[in-house]
Amino acid sequence: MHPLHRLPLLVVVLLLPAAAWGLAPPRFPGSSHPRARANAVGGYEYETRYFRQRLDHFSFPGVEDDDAFFQQRYLVGRGGGWAGRGGPIFFYCGNEGDIAWFAANSGLVWEAAPRLAALVHRYYGESMPFGSKAKAYNNSKSLAYLTTEQALADFAVLLADLKRNLSAEGSPVVLFGGSYGGMLAAWMRLKYPHIAVGALASSSPILQFEDIVPSAIFYDLVSDDFRRESISCFQTIKESWKALDDQANGEDGLLKLSKTFHLCQTLKTSEELSDWLSSAYSYLAMVDYPIPSEFLMPLPANPIKEVCRKIDSQPEGTSTLERIYAGVNVYYNYTGTVGCFDLNDDPHGMGGWDWQACTEMVMPMSYSEDRSMFPPYKFDYASYAEGCINSFGVKPRPRWISTEFGGHDIATVLEKFGSNIIFFNGLLDPWSGGGVLKNISESIIAIVAPLGAHHIDLRPATPEDPDWLVSLRESELKIISGWLSDYYGARGALFQPGALKDSSAC
Ligand SMILES: *[C@@H]1O[C@H](CO)[C@@H](O)[C@H](O)[C@H]1NC(C)=O
Ligand SMILES: *[C@@H]1O[C@H](CO)[C@@H](O)[C@H](O)[C@H]1NC(C)=O
Ligand SMILES: *[C@@H]1O[C@H](CO)[C@@H](O)[C@H](O)[C@H]1NC(C)=O
Ligand SMILES: *[C@@H]1O[C@H](CO)[C@@H](O)[C@H](O)[C@H]1NC(C)=O
Repeated sequence: MHPLHRLPLLVVVLLLPAAAWGLAPPRFPGSSHPRARANAVGGYEYETRYFRQRLDHFSFPGVEDDDAFFQQRYLVGRGGGWAGRGGPIFFYCGNEGDIAWFAANSGLVWEAAPRLAALVHRYYGESMPFGSKAKAYNNSKSLAYLTTEQALADFAVLLADLKRNLSAEGSPVVLFGGSYGGMLAAWMRLKYPHIAVGALASSSPILQFEDIVPSAIFYDLVSDDFRRESISCFQTIKESWKALDDQANGEDGLLKLSKTFHLCQTLKTSEELSDWLSSAYSYLAMVDYPIPSEFLMPLPANPIKEVCRKIDSQPEGTSTLERIYAGVNVYYNYTGTVGCFDLNDDPHGMGGWDWQACTEMVMPMSYSEDRSMFPPYKFDYASYAEGCINSFGVKPRPRWISTEFGGHDIATVLEKFGSNIIFFNGLLDPWSGGGVLKNISESIIAIVAPLGAHHIDLRPATPEDPDWLVSLRESELKIISGWLSDYYGARGALFQPGALKDSSAC
């Protein structure tokens, strides 16, 4: 099998259609998942608005150019937290997701926010340049404006305009983001310090580029999560790749595999199946929350424990592949309502992330030999680039992100230069391998939750939340309050939390 045909989406979920990458990076879990429930954040009301955004912030189109602007969706509302005129604005840096996902999975921001705004990332959801997705995604020329630099400039332009419209020029802005959105939040704070006073960058693997961290770290951490639950489960998965290949190469192999795994269609290659399985393991590791969730899929608390329980508890004599089928059923069919598995079921067409991974967001991914439960694979830039040329006609710029935003030697670089960033990571989350896990300075803080998964801090509070989660959210908000006090203090203004609740916010 080819290790990863899929890019791990930082907060995106769903599988890439089998692509040409040697080993596509895993995707971030989540954002455009159809099953996200907007109403999970009950009671917080927001308005959806559109803003006329410039397609290219770094050039000057002719006045006759019809495509020079597009409608960018954003939401604005008042959260349940501190309120008041001149009060802070919390800004959620949209990732590849849509509003429903944001609302359902960013409870922390809603619950603490005074005023709140969130911008949908260009080229995702309804924020389509050129008037339609078909046109925006047509080719490398139309996709050329899908970059992190343009996205950050979108945030900056929108925030400045929004503050003017709200007569809120004096309001400090705090950035929030999870996963890819967390990377944007951190980078935004570094690039636009005059626009935002600080950033909470949750589960943002800003070091997952070039050789800053080992390329095998992501899948090593996925594997560790399984080994931690059960060694035999880890072993069964590790052995299953060979069993899968053997079966595939036998007589009617693909047909038999398709039956074993209850697939809707007969497999064309065994890679389709191995990609589907490794995606499930990666996503399970990202969402290995101690409470039930519906972030990517409806799942029980501690889903990896549940998957391993299934794999381990099959009766004696059950084949390796049947055990694997029973295990992944927990991920793909927890509700028990799926009639057959459709491997090509990608209603959201995560094409946008694939483009980003093929241009700037090149995150080398390997499978190590010993620590990993995946078949060994070493990242091969040449085949990765070839996949990108085939898919999009572009060649990646693997060094561009670290040139633009830094990353090498980050502690020394940022210690004297940056301020007011919280990097949250949960160590069960495989993306923590590319995260900032150590404090850099008094105000560039790493908060690490040994039992946390992908941006668990941002999720809405629930009565079942363990104490460590409750207290880590409190610490984050306390640090953010400190940034705000500094901001107002430096301006001789004392912000009164809770004052002026009737202000005509938003
Ligand atoms: C896509 O690009 C091709 C070649 O430039 C053009 O002929 C076609 O009309 C475009 N399609 C859309 C949907 O814009
Ligand atoms: C600010 O107000 C102008 C004029 O009504 C409007 O065109 C623009 O979209 C508003 N900006 C934002 C961010 O909503
Ligand atoms: C999903 O789970 C139900 C209930 O356990 C089962 O009957 C069904 O066959 C499963 N679907 C697939 C595709 O395996
Ligand atoms: C970073 O410093 C804060 C206190 O300023 C502390 O709570 C936190 O545990 C430190 N993080 C790490 C990873 O040591």
